[in-house]
Amino acid sequence: MPPIYQPAEDSYLLSKVLGKEIPELLKKNQHLQFLEIGSGSGILLETAKRLGIKREHIFGADINQKAVEHCRSLDFNCIYSDLFENVQGKYALIIFNPPYLPKNSSEPTDSQLATTGGLQGSGIINEFLKQAENYLEKNGKIFLLTSSLTKGIKWREFKKKKLGNEKLFFEELYVWELGK
Ligand SMILES: C[S@@+](CC[C@H](N)C(=O)[O-])C[C@H]1O[C@@H](n2cnc3c(N)ncnc32)[C@H](O)[C@@H]1O
Repeated sequence: MPPIYQPAEDSYLLSKVLGKEIPELLKKNQHLQFLEIGSGSGILLETAKRLGIKREHIFGADINQKAVEHCRSLDFNCIYSDLFENVQGKYALIIFNPPYLPKNSSEPTDSQLATTGGLQGSGIINEFLKQAENYLEKNGKIFLLTSSLTKGIKWREFKKKKLGNEKLFFEELYVWELGK
């Protein structure tokens, strides 16, 4: 089984954005239902909990069973799912720090599951965007991380606003808010 993705700059950028945005969202909706696709080590589930979302309103999903078991061991509700395959219900906030890099044959296959989104980097993101609208509450929001290296994103009908960015050596990371 592939290793659990260890938190990196992308995880920390999304965590920082959550720190700014979740308190505002909670002011409007104390019962905010939060879903993370690709919860990995659980770092962002922990952030959501620390910021005041009730544990019973925090849900995680991952395609890596090892990550699912790890998040469960942290006492989070987490399921095995390929994107929304096994997800039920609707959420006020759905976040995803996806595999966003174009395929690089020198990267070990083991870590590709967490980092690589097909030839252009956008394969998993585009499938996520296609499915996500069925799982959003009315006025629900998506926070999605992408990179300047990710090409070919199909944003569909979503309105998008940049919530954060960070320049790294080879790329720039962005966090987008998407809504209808
Ligand atoms: C870049 S890591 C992010 C992990 C964690 N959220 C963080 O920020 O550190 C991407 C995560 O998405 C998961 N993943 C990849 N493809 C997926 C899919 N199709 N459905 C669900 N999860 C997926 C990977 O297993 C990995 O845990």
